[in-house]
Amino acid sequence: MPESTPQLPPERAAQPATFEVRIAPDGWVFAATPGQSVLQAALAAGVELESSCRNGTCRTCLCRLVQGQVVYPMAWPGVSADEQAEGWFLPCVAMARSDLVVEQPMAWPAPAP
Ligand code: FES
Repeated sequence: MPESTPQLPPERAAQPATFEVRIAPDGWVFAATPGQSVLQAALAAGVELESSCRNGTCRTCLCRLVQGQVVYPMAWPGVSADEQAEGWFLPCVAMARSDLVVEQPMAWPAPAP
């Protein structure tokens, strides 16, 4: 009997390890893992984005997704379906599912630790 090798489901096996996130217009570029929010990825790379609650309710971080796809870990993030259709998203809770271009003119380098 041949030994079987555990296989990931096709949708997981096809996931890249990281996605590239580009912040426009300043051009900050960093990597985001599939399990990391866009804000967490930015902070880990030394890029600050406007934020407050960091749980998808206050909308301080609201900005536009110019290109790419994100998903939310909850059913009702604090952004309406109409706003999502217009490209608005919440980077504090949204996770990249492709390379992203994000319009956020208020990004700045995080202070050195
Ligand atoms: S920081 Fe509050 S919704 Fe993103």
